[in-house]
Amino acid sequence: STPTHIRNFCIIAHIDHGKSTLADRMLQGTGVMHERNAREQTLDNMDLERERGITIKASAVSVEHEYKGETYELNFIDTPGHVDFHYEVSRALAACEGAVLVVDATQGVEAQTVANLYKAVDANLELIPVINKIDLPSAQPEERAMQVEEVLGLDAADCIMTSAKTGVGVAELLDAICARFPEPQGNPDAPLQALIFDAIYDDYRGVVVYFRMMNGRMKKGDRILMMGAQRTYQVTELGKFRPEMTPTTEAFEAGDVGYMVAAIKTLEDVNIGDTITLDTARCDEPLPGYEEPAPMVYCDFYPSGDTQFDELRDAIARLHVNDASYTYEPTNSEALGSGFRCGFLGMLHMDIIQERLEREGNVSIVQTAPTVTYEIKIVGKGGDTEVIQITNPAELPDMSKVKDIREPIVAAEIITPTSSIGDIMKLCEQRRGVYKSQKFLADDRQILEYDLPLAEIIYDFFDKLKSITSGYGTMDYHVTGFNSDNLVKMDVLVNGNPVEALSLIVHRSKAEFRGRHLLKRLKEQIDRHLFEIPLQAAIGGKIIARETIKSVGKNVTAKCYGGDVSRKRKLLEKQKKGKERMKKVGSVDIPQEAFMSVLDTG
Ligand code: GTP
Repeated sequence: STPTHIRNFCIIAHIDHGKSTLADRMLQGTGVMHERNAREQTLDNMDLERERGITIKASAVSVEHEYKGETYELNFIDTPGHVDFHYEVSRALAACEGAVLVVDATQGVEAQTVANLYKAVDANLELIPVINKIDLPSAQPEERAMQVEEVLGLDAADCIMTSAKTGVGVAELLDAICARFPEPQGNPDAPLQALIFDAIYDDYRGVVVYFRMMNGRMKKGDRILMMGAQRTYQVTELGKFRPEMTPTTEAFEAGDVGYMVAAIKTLEDVNIGDTITLDTARCDEPLPGYEEPAPMVYCDFYPSGDTQFDELRDAIARLHVNDASYTYEPTNSEALGSGFRCGFLGMLHMDIIQERLEREGNVSIVQTAPTVTYEIKIVGKGGDTEVIQITNPAELPDMSKVKDIREPIVAAEIITPTSSIGDIMKLCEQRRGVYKSQKFLADDRQILEYDLPLAEIIYDFFDKLKSITSGYGTMDYHVTGFNSDNLVKMDVLVNGNPVEALSLIVHRSKAEFRGRHLLKRLKEQIDRHLFEIPLQAAIGGKIIARETIKSVGKNVTAKCYGGDVSRKRKLLEKQKKGKERMKKVGSVDIPQEAFMSVLDTG
């Protein structure tokens, strides 16, 4: 198609407002899928996405639509809505001219509706607001359209009413996309510049690159250069997503969206946000690319069970092609052996990566308790101060050298039913939050703004918010900087030996409580040994909490009262199995679950 008949756009929304369903419905609307073959949620193609009912990876699809007697090619990119996946949303936006903003007609504007709108506006995208789920009895389409105007500043009259379930309004939406979104700009006669916005690894074909043509032309057989990696490849296949990958022999021109195969086996050569150009006629400058997000939550992955270190390394490197937003580097732990220290954009991101590694990479993993990044001001060699970043409390230098510990602070925007305001404020205050403002959103909804330490919200804050508001509260946040507070390092000693993987950084006022709670959990998790085991929590050498695990007699099978043989065997087997997952610290066996005890905030 010529650029005048191409529309590149994305769909953005708060989680669960119906992006993926609407995208599927648009495919049906354009006759790509026959209703009877249509599988639920074609675009959420990972099993994990289907099970969790959320979109994790953005997907791209090209379809044709007849508008005023002419054929348009619509390239759309389905984007994830969860706060941890903002990175994916930004990537998608850079490849588009327009954004369809979906608002649930029963829920109205939510935290990520606002956050995603800001991103689309920042990226200079044209917007079409859509009020979805109008088939539901509790839908209030007119009120929601007014809210879109009042809160988001988009014209209520521009809203398109849809039901992704019944298909109502979908044809009208497709027409509006052709009519209202601008055609892609770009010069087909200029040197090739194509933006890589996604990639997957395929065992047979190597890396499959998803890209958007910005300038120039590309065809099968061309020798291309990945500008960032400075590596050249020959294009062996070019194609579009319909929605399956469909090869084409036609040349791609400025404005087109598709995929490319070029026998790329070196994963590191493909970087999301990198620019592709022609090796023989290079462009001068790469495209601006993306702002790399900084990981904020860290944990270690260690191989467990039958998995070897090398297998874990390969699985991590492979998945990284598909999601470059997590970081990894080899690490070593006295208690857990060789593994990787990994950084994530948030807790959900961490969970998803762990699950994808186990499923797609076929490895089994032990994970340590997540922590945030800390900035540590230390006195250096010559007496000068310097600031270092650590992602693991065990890396804290000798406390006599530490002048200050600073933690990441987020600006959080919480949208909550008015009736829950008091409880939400209490929760924020318990988490050392600093009140910023309270704004009116709708009759029964308020927007609360707080500054909160990231460490206080990564574990269970979101669950608490959901339970306080019976599921109606939503939250968006971004890191704004680092602040110092009264933070201290708490060491945990098992039988007199400090266990680094158990140490944590806590606020002084919470240290004793956390220490006592942690030791109680450890006491439940560590089996009795032949000797007594003291458990201690300490700050700077001073013991602040203590517990003791009493010793047991020698014969472990004595518990079986001698009689039942099969029961005895079972017990021995259970012990053996348990041992594989034990780590020895000094002479004490600590089960791997115990390393997560530090997470429990009581
Ligand atoms: P994420 O990808 O996780 O951000 O969610 P999403 O915005 O893609 O939402 P999804 O399409 O998964 O829809 C969420 C739920 O709403 C699903 O159970 C859908 O079946 C349902 N749903 C979506 N659109 C409609 C609609 O128009 N009417 C009704 N009744 N249900 C809908």
